[in-house]
Amino acid sequence: MAGEGQLSDRLRRCADEILRRLERGILVALTGSGVSAESGIPTFRDRGGLWDRWDPEQVATAEALQKRPRMVWRFFQELRELAQGARPNAAHYALAELESLLRAISRVVVITQNVDGLHQAAGSRTVIELHGNAGRYYCMVCGREHPAPPLTLGELPPRCACGGVIRPDVVFFGEMLPEDAWSEAAAAVERSAVMLVVGTSLQVEPAASLAYQALQRGALVCQINLEPTPLSHLAHYTFLGPASRLLPALVQRVRELLSERTPWRRAEDQATAQASGGGD
Ligand code: OAD
Repeated sequence: MAGEGQLSDRLRRCADEILRRLERGILVALTGSGVSAESGIPTFRDRGGLWDRWDPEQVATAEALQKRPRMVWRFFQELRELAQGARPNAAHYALAELESLLRAISRVVVITQNVDGLHQAAGSRTVIELHGNAGRYYCMVCGREHPAPPLTLGELPPRCACGGVIRPDVVFFGEMLPEDAWSEAAAAVERSAVMLVVGTSLQVEPAASLAYQALQRGALVCQINLEPTPLSHLAHYTFLGPASRLLPALVQRVRELLSERTPWRRAEDQATAQASGGGD
């Protein structure tokens, strides 16, 4: 099929350019809920997504958490139920594989807006969680950490022994991002030679701004998404389709190109990575 042949050529060209660019910096992957869609976790803004059924103003803001914690928790329990038992899919595994493939050449940093922990479960080692992690909980009054409340909990919201409402350690609208995560993410983008933007509509700031910062600093920006986004016409490469198909396909081209390199070239890669602090 001509379309498939063209896609294959573009993926190979993109992989080739990624490898050449990585001589000058690191690879950063900025991911969103589209990466986990094929693990069965719904996205937010797609048709049938979470914001079709729930009003984010009512269930996902700092104000809602203060004023209507029961409703926020009803939403959150539904989300937990949907995500229960979710496993990484081929897109998560492809990013983890990319990290090991590139080990001798460069670093791979995953910056994710997802709170599901699936990148880590797939084996990615450097994952910056911009919006927190839904596996952690703490009391809004005394700050004590708590285990995940049972999904069957009758009385919502769950409460701490001190009487305070327990909340998930995720970022609600109107809240600051975790300071460490944000500064690590900004520093990674500062060092980036390549940015992959995968499965995000780029509607939420400040996460979205990282993609534009990467563009501004001259990084090669490659987007993989089901549908076009405002970044699509600015990115150097845009591949439209499911991340579970396109990301493994791109990583396969990287693997092929690396295996075609002579042993002499591979040794040179290693030396360059060590000299620039890009490798391990
Ligand atoms: P969105 O729901 O806004 O966007 C998901 C994107 O993934 C869309 O552009 C889809 O086209 C794309 N997509 C869906 N399925 C895909 C697939 N199988 N492969 C590739 N792409 C696919 O979700 P996010 O951009 O992650 O924040 O949303 C960002 C933030 O908004 C979330 O972290 C959350 C939300 O409100 C907070 O709650 C603070």
